[in-house]
Amino acid sequence: MAAARACLVALVVALTFLFMEGRPTAARKMSAGNLVQRRLEVRSLLRRLNKPPVASIQSPDGDIIDCVHISEQPAFDHPLLKNHTIQMCPSYNPKGMQHHSNITPHLITQTWHQNGKCPEHTIPIRRTKEEHVLRASSVRRFGTKMPRSIPLVNPINDTNTPNILRGHQYAAASARYDKCYGSKGTFNMWKPAIARANDFSLTQLWITAGSYNGNNLNTIEVGWQVYPNLYGDTNTRLFIYWTRDAYQTTGCYNLLCSGFIQTSNQITIGGSISPTSTYGGTQYDIDILVWKDRAGGNWWLQVGGYNVGYWPSYIFSDLAHSASTIMWGGEIFSPDVGQTSTHMGSGHFPNEGFGKASHIKNIQVVNSSNCLNPPSYVGLITEQNNCYNVQSGNYGDWGTYIYYGGPGNNPNCP
Ligand SMILES: *[C@@H]1O[C@H](CO)[C@@H](O)[C@H](O)[C@H]1NC(C)=O
Ligand SMILES: *[C@@H]1O[C@H](CO)[C@@H](O)[C@H](O)[C@H]1NC(C)=O
Ligand SMILES: *[C@@H]1O[C@H](CO)[C@@H](O)[C@H](O)[C@H]1NC(C)=O
Repeated sequence: MAAARACLVALVVALTFLFMEGRPTAARKMSAGNLVQRRLEVRSLLRRLNKPPVASIQSPDGDIIDCVHISEQPAFDHPLLKNHTIQMCPSYNPKGMQHHSNITPHLITQTWHQNGKCPEHTIPIRRTKEEHVLRASSVRRFGTKMPRSIPLVNPINDTNTPNILRGHQYAAASARYDKCYGSKGTFNMWKPAIARANDFSLTQLWITAGSYNGNNLNTIEVGWQVYPNLYGDTNTRLFIYWTRDAYQTTGCYNLLCSGFIQTSNQITIGGSISPTSTYGGTQYDIDILVWKDRAGGNWWLQVGGYNVGYWPSYIFSDLAHSASTIMWGGEIFSPDVGQTSTHMGSGHFPNEGFGKASHIKNIQVVNSSNCLNPPSYVGLITEQNNCYNVQSGNYGDWGTYIYYGGPGNNPNCP
């Protein structure tokens, strides 16, 4: 009962945030004093995030990519990371089923690659501009998720959730373990249509431990997203996220707070990825692998064949040891609850199949012997499956896969 009440309080808090996020900036009344205060906060945040670069590259998509010396990156502002020695590469790669072993994984390209490279010993960081921060509901909330940003593994029993919270919708697969140490998958790339700037659409991998209701949910999240309010455009972008307290005060997108330590000078986290797949046409995929390295326990991230960097284990509580639930799939958010025509995945339903519906294939999980195996069972999570849906299967070269996504608003939805 007490747990139920606590949950309700959390929902009310979440609701308040939702209204705040949904309100147009212009409608917010601010006194001149508040405006000056906000400007100062923004400047101070930008000084923290934008470290002095060794070189800068103007990307054709409008981003400025700063090549920042690896030891100057924002991660080292974290009090726990003051004396951290960078692990330049993982000690161990998980051993796995080698699907397509005769095909070298094609390295992903990011839009900024057209205009230059970052030198050795630097990392590419997307420069945060004042206008990015001003779009957030508050300077403090910039780059963070709203509280309820995790698929409910048991949505059917979630009958107490007010409809308004269904602003988040998921179509995903999940697998539970006593202990597991990472996951790999091949993620189909799309550029879903976004109905309005406050909406987002993403496809990702969630590696979690702890529980949402216990406020100790730890997550590592990686994928691609279209999120105009965060990035200022509708490009498909690579993103990461982490939290150790169910999104309350810790964690953020990308490098927008200290935590993740980047080692690669090739990949910009938060940078645009191109090209994306076309309906009935060429399909583009990206491999994502996250695993807990035995030496030091860091959670390493590999994207499109590049080791990008790692989350040090001690920024987490439960994930410092192992993970318990892994999920793969799509999420959309819209303040227009149940009404939005924001697309998930390709914007088409799973039953349309390859080249039309979006897929995640070769889904695998890292076990305690550091080996990749397909999950023996996946549960499926959808909320309104006439809006967005998910199907799983297992077949030959594709191993364990899902098709997921949908168009949102249509004659059968909501
Ligand atoms: C970092 O090293 C200094 C000097 O050795 C020490 O005083 C401090 O406690 C260390 N900080 C952390 C977070 O380990
Ligand atoms: C919902 O909860 C009931 C009772 O707690 C349980 O028996 C049932 O299996 C749950 N339904 C699902 C879909 O998990
Ligand atoms: C991990 O997976 C490998 C490969 O399937 C298997 O041989 C090994 O026994 C597994 N380890 C554990 C602890 O289950």
